[in-house]
Amino acid sequence: MMDFYEVIKKRRSYRIFKREMPTREQITRIINSARLAPTWANMQGMHYVVVQDPDIVKLVWDAIGQYNKFADAPMYIVGCIAEKGSGTNINGMKYYSVDFGICFEHIILAATAEGLGTCWIGYFNENEIKKALQIPEEFRVLGLTPLGYPAKTRGEVEDRRSLEEIMHFEKF
Ligand SMILES: Cc1cc2nc3c(=O)[nH]c(=O)nc-3n(C[C@H](O)[C@H](O)[C@H](O)COP(=O)(O)O)c2cc1C
Repeated sequence: MMDFYEVIKKRRSYRIFKREMPTREQITRIINSARLAPTWANMQGMHYVVVQDPDIVKLVWDAIGQYNKFADAPMYIVGCIAEKGSGTNINGMKYYSVDFGICFEHIILAATAEGLGTCWIGYFNENEIKKALQIPEEFRVLGLTPLGYPAKTRGEVEDRRSLEEIMHFEKF
């Protein structure tokens, strides 16, 4: 099993995949990692739709509509949460999107630890996805990812701003 910091470095966005389907055990471990994530007020409002049926995979791909990206992805994990499935902080900020982000990143990192590729997708037709997957009206789909073996492994992340630029001690 990969060391945590190795997982962090190995995680990249993948957009071209082999056809091979991840195993049910892998998928279960990945979703279980998201289940264990923290949420505001511990309301645990997240749900995950695992899409493997080729006809439904195609509907999801159509709803993403980013040209030929993800064309060979064998499956998707679609995350959703109701706006009232989280809480509101004292500044009036609803936290469902924060809960979504935390849980979904657990999915992305767990998949990396499994040797699988993902790509957090934020650009898609939400209504089309909801219709295709029969997601209840009150839920919001804030992200989804293909899951599979990358056609070609990418190098580690190196295009980030420097630590010196973003890390502040005591004062900004
Ligand atoms: C919230 C979010 C939404 C994203 N949406 C898309 C998307 O719709 N399509 C896409 O190709 N990549 C998407 N990405 C991937 C980013 O472009 C990618 O993470 C970034 O360029 C850094 O590259 P890396 O993930 O390989 O380190 C998204 C990433 C995040 C975090």
